[in-house]
Amino acid sequence: MHSSLPAPSLLAGDHANLGASAQAVADAGAAWLHVDIMDGHFVPNLSFGPETVAALRRAGIKLFFDTHLMLSEPARYIEAFAKAGANLISIHIEPAYDHAATLARIRSLGCQCGIVLNPGTPAGAVEHLLDQVDLVLVMTVQPGFGGQSFRADMMPKLAQLAAWRKERGYNWRLEVDGGVDLRTVRDCHAAGADTFVAGTSFFKATDRVAFLKEIEGLPGLEARNAER
Ligand code: DX5
Ligand code: ZN
Repeated sequence: MHSSLPAPSLLAGDHANLGASAQAVADAGAAWLHVDIMDGHFVPNLSFGPETVAALRRAGIKLFFDTHLMLSEPARYIEAFAKAGANLISIHIEPAYDHAATLARIRSLGCQCGIVLNPGTPAGAVEHLLDQVDLVLVMTVQPGFGGQSFRADMMPKLAQLAAWRKERGYNWRLEVDGGVDLRTVRDCHAAGADTFVAGTSFFKATDRVAFLKEIEGLPGLEARNAER
């Protein structure tokens, strides 16, 4: 169904030259740009706002903006991000708010929607929303900072979500975020993920074109199912 897709993360770019960093992602051949939005409350860090997204669009960046909201109150900001040019908006399950209504609102604004799980959150926490999303994002680090170590103990959760997707016929992408590099991406892929956020590993790669090609070369779901 879904081909393997790398999503380089702007968080690991040059924050004094974000337009150039986004352009570098496009120039390397990526289709998606992962944009991390932090509020200093749900996570202990701050990053970008809707104006950053709008400015990237004005600068001519045409990548698919995979916008990861790490916010205690995402509903307050989704309209601003949709208007700024986000293509997909993901929200976390952990804070208390009306998740289903917020996902529906994201779609009504013309964007795809995703639900995100922190490392401590079990797959079952999002089970009731799996018929309402375009993407499920499993954090493989505690969100807030780039450059952290990959949590291999998240693989059973990924596999559980992938199994539900297959059994129940869902069509969402299954994304991983945090500590993904050319080694750990293989574990994620084996567990069923098809969409791979890469911050530090992408920007530090000596050959970014080859880096993206290697991830894109991992066989997609149809090919994998045929193997089984
Ligand atoms: C972490 C962010 C990630 C971050 C990943 O809170 O959600 O998207 O950019 O960075 P790396 O790939 O360096 O772990
Ligand atoms: Zn992220």
